[in-house]
Amino acid sequence: MALAFALLLSNTVWAEQVAQVASPDGRINVQLDVDGDGRISYRVLRDGVPVIAESRLGLRLRNGPHLLGGFALTQKTTTPFDETWEQPWGERRFVRNHYNELHAAFVEKQRGKRRMDVVFRVYDDGLGFRYEFPQQPALKNLEIQDEYTEFAIAKPATAWWIPAGEWNRYEYLYNRTPLVEVSQAHTPITLRTDSGLHLSIHEAALVDYASMWLRRSEGQRLRAELAPGGEQGVSVVRTLPFHSPWRSVQISEYAGGLVESSLILNLNEPNKLGDVSWFKPSKYVGVWWSMHLNQDTWGTGPRHGATTENTKRYIDFAADNGFRGVLVEGWNPGWDGDWFANGWGFDYTKSTADFDLPALSAYAAKKGVHLIGHHETACAVSHYERQLGAAFDLYARNGVDVVKTGYVCDAGQIERQDAKNGPVVREWHDGQWMSNHHLRVAEEAAKRHIAINAHEPIKDTGLRRTYPNWIAREGARGMEYNAWAVPPNPPEHEVNLVFTRMLAGPMDYTPGVLSLTGRNGQEIPSTLARQLALYVGLYSPIQMAADLPEHYAAHADAFQFIKDVAVDWDDTKVLAGEVGEYVAIARKQRGAPAWFIGAMNDRNPRTLALPLAFLDVGKTYRAEIYRDGDGADWKGEARFKFVRESKTVTSRDVLSLWLAGGGGAAVRFVPIDAS
Ligand code: NOJ
Ligand code: CA
Repeated sequence: MALAFALLLSNTVWAEQVAQVASPDGRINVQLDVDGDGRISYRVLRDGVPVIAESRLGLRLRNGPHLLGGFALTQKTTTPFDETWEQPWGERRFVRNHYNELHAAFVEKQRGKRRMDVVFRVYDDGLGFRYEFPQQPALKNLEIQDEYTEFAIAKPATAWWIPAGEWNRYEYLYNRTPLVEVSQAHTPITLRTDSGLHLSIHEAALVDYASMWLRRSEGQRLRAELAPGGEQGVSVVRTLPFHSPWRSVQISEYAGGLVESSLILNLNEPNKLGDVSWFKPSKYVGVWWSMHLNQDTWGTGPRHGATTENTKRYIDFAADNGFRGVLVEGWNPGWDGDWFANGWGFDYTKSTADFDLPALSAYAAKKGVHLIGHHETACAVSHYERQLGAAFDLYARNGVDVVKTGYVCDAGQIERQDAKNGPVVREWHDGQWMSNHHLRVAEEAAKRHIAINAHEPIKDTGLRRTYPNWIAREGARGMEYNAWAVPPNPPEHEVNLVFTRMLAGPMDYTPGVLSLTGRNGQEIPSTLARQLALYVGLYSPIQMAADLPEHYAAHADAFQFIKDVAVDWDDTKVLAGEVGEYVAIARKQRGAPAWFIGAMNDRNPRTLALPLAFLDVGKTYRAEIYRDGDGADWKGEARFKFVRESKTVTSRDVLSLWLAGGGGAAVRFVPIDAS
């Protein structure tokens, strides 16, 4: 007993604060401690109140003693930073990057005298930190088994999370549980403490490293768990010097603050690609939903979707309605039979006999439309990499400047084959090897002015700042689940996405299914107006009008909003919202005076009163409102109850919007010329 008490005492008494750094506004404070065993930990306070309690830092290695203790601080430097940078496209045009940085250099007192630096950047809306390994004589390379990075949440909290390390990658419905019921979660994970503080733990600039999962070790303590590596048997292998991705914590008093934050982008490196004005934010249609409905097939045969004739029909539809892109899936050999199991059969440089790529690209060009390419790998990733250059060359010759990639297979089943005829090794979608694969694809594509939209991707960590042509990804349950999944995406799902998945970056959700009906007549749990709200609610610089042309013809009223809605923004404001319950987001069209609102609801009907103070003072606007009609609901025929109306408003008005259960609203504000 006496001994236990003495040990306890030594743990607390001996930890000494060695450095600290505060946010520019002084409200967030990070403290670094080293205990009597030389173990490093950090803690985070906001207004003097603990947000993250003492949390350990360190790494477990295979090629040497773990880097977990025995450290002494040798140097610390604090540097302020403040700049404003411009996004080529995005949720806002100008982004302020304002933080104080603490660089703390540690060295082992004994052993190999290995050096490990820890760098913190503290912003008014959160913080990021990473490990840096400078060049040093005693350490040439690291084989990292795992990280010992902890996040001990100081107050009881509710968590919104999806499981990590499970077969379906990121495509799960969000759990809402007490934090103490989290097992192993992907990031971003969203937390709300009992005192109402909102936190999002994630990472930024995931380059040449394994994704961070979070495993709850005890109580409210989460610990980093690196996605496993395949070939190397450890998660990360790196040569010094290098640094880890940033581990990030966004902090906000209100839920919308997480959405408005640019912390993840700010923690990434500036654009490495130079002029990217060749990419145009735009909307697209595609030979796509018909396959998910099982009306058409990806494979060849009587119901083949990717025929010359059918693609022409979509090109005509795109041209008639002002859409720039036409996605075509199933255009190349490899889809026949069980394509899930046949990734090594895909050919990316040939088209099927009934699909005339040069003729179609000429036809599209004549109409001001661009084909969007598709590279489904079914996870035969090395096979795809061998064709990458030639595949992009073919597309570039045919005016295809956006390519959707795909990695359909269970998690951990990515097939890597370093040497032709060599062994095939299984990798994780979010391991170190795939983090590098995706950048190889983005860089090869950029050379030919092609943009990439990755499905079944590695999670987004803000790399679009550095590689802007990596424009969007999937990485969550998208609209396709409403075609064929049991259950389809429930009303909460898209509201959850706004406060979880979307904090990572743009998502190709593929909204706008106005028929509200999946395969075999399955109802999509949404109202009509809600489908329109998704265009504003879930940001992406490419947005699909996912439904069939004939379904849009049947809903011309609602379709008007899909034609009018912008895809690129000067500014974004969250007008109202609670995680997983409801949200209303206002965005200003890039380079134009129009504003848009998208509002989305869970299954409980409610009325939102939205102040229009974001509009220009003194201007009068026509508000074109697309909303749930009286009696609308996410079930049955009531899904289609819908009203389109106009109102004259100014910045002094408050717009009252009733949202049905599973409903939503979409509004366009257009200035009325005073003359
Ligand atoms: C899954 C993607 O998310 C979907 O959009 C695509 O149609 C199929 N894979 C086939 O590649
Ligand atoms: Ca998918």
